[in-house]
Amino acid sequence: MNRKYDIVLFGATGFTGQLIAKYLAIHAKNENIIWAIAGRDIEKLHKVKNQLSGLLPDILSSDVKDRASLDVMTSQTKILMNAVGPFNLYGRDVIKSCIDQGTHYLDITGEPSFVADLYNNFFESAVQNKTCIINCCGFDSIPADFAAWLTAKKLPKDEPKSLKGYIRTNATFSGGTLTTAIQALHMEVQKTSIKTKIRRHPDAPKISLNIHFSKEINAWAIPMPVVDPHIVKRSIFRMPEDFGVAVSYGQFFVRSSITKVLKTVMPIAAAMVLVRFEIFRKRMFKKFKPGTGPNEERRAKTNFQVICFGTSKSANAKTVFSGGDPGYDETAKMFSQSAFTLLDKLRNNTIIYGVLTPVEGLGMLLVHRLRKEGIMIE
Ligand SMILES: NC(=O)c1ccc[n+]([C@@H]2O[C@H](COP(=O)([O-])OP(=O)(O)OC[C@H]3O[C@@H](n4cnc5c(N)ncnc54)[C@H](OP(=O)(O)O)[C@@H]3O)[C@@H](O)[C@H]2O)c1
Repeated sequence: MNRKYDIVLFGATGFTGQLIAKYLAIHAKNENIIWAIAGRDIEKLHKVKNQLSGLLPDILSSDVKDRASLDVMTSQTKILMNAVGPFNLYGRDVIKSCIDQGTHYLDITGEPSFVADLYNNFFESAVQNKTCIINCCGFDSIPADFAAWLTAKKLPKDEPKSLKGYIRTNATFSGGTLTTAIQALHMEVQKTSIKTKIRRHPDAPKISLNIHFSKEINAWAIPMPVVDPHIVKRSIFRMPEDFGVAVSYGQFFVRSSITKVLKTVMPIAAAMVLVRFEIFRKRMFKKFKPGTGPNEERRAKTNFQVICFGTSKSANAKTVFSGGDPGYDETAKMFSQSAFTLLDKLRNNTIIYGVLTPVEGLGMLLVHRLRKEGIMIE
């Protein structure tokens, strides 16, 4: 590909975007990349650039509401990293522009409906235009997707198997993440969210998705309406060579006591009722300010662990994937390393086209990179 930039980061002015820009600037020289940051507000982009140290980026102006400006941005780069959310609201035209321009694309969405729309409606055109689209390259869903894949690979291929992912974290969220969650919840209760079309294999073991006390982890387990199970199930469906054919996946959030279970479940249940009312949504959008999030001190005290247990008739396996602040510092790392991996694949001519999961598009190369960067994957 003959393009001016290897990587353009769109949404560099956001809370997460700024952390990603910082990570890219530090690593750009070693990775031998020419890069730029992009967004709708040039003044803000200059402020972001002025705070960076390392190899500094160029600045590009682009607004999701102006398709021509998207095409100018996407036509100049080999890979677009998209951190502009909510993706349900802003993502579709960015995808269309990338596919039209044959520009490879990565994002950090955590919105199941957005991803389902791409799987259902953009896969063929991405293949035709030789474009690689990979969603969920942050905490959603790299740990869950890779933990499930690595666990399945340790079990006999021809035996039906169940994979259960358990997530522990003490993380807090950015304004952008909470706004995105409210917006996605609203689509869910309005029944306007798009669903994927994957069915469970009839021989795959059933996993009960109730709140329960899990003996495997000796703690309470809560199924959560997050994007990870959608991504893992898509990987299972797309990669039978690695996973086997009759595989089920369930994912749970871990809490140490019943009080903590209630503290987690009650606000979500309340939000599911209140989100129907415009006044509540407006209040929440006002409260959760874009560009805000947990400060450095808070993030330094934050960590995560994703444990995947796999069981088949004759064997058990377990993968632990863990690191620091999942939503922001580690997301900046996972997202940037995903882009470097994709660039490696582009340079080695091993890139795959279509709308792919992180495991399908990035594979072991990303695992090696993340381990070198201090993420524990065992
Ligand atoms: N997968 C994960 O694990 C993970 C982790 C973190 C975040 N996220 C997701 O990433 C998204 C961003 O989160 P955040 O906390 O960084 O949010 P944020 O602080 O609100 O940032 C939003 C970004 O989108 C940009 N934007 C908004 N409207 C735009 C438009 N019309 N044209 C161009 N750019 C526009 C904003 O630009 P301005 O500065 O000009 O407003 C800003 O750069 C959210 O959807 C969040 O859920 C996912």
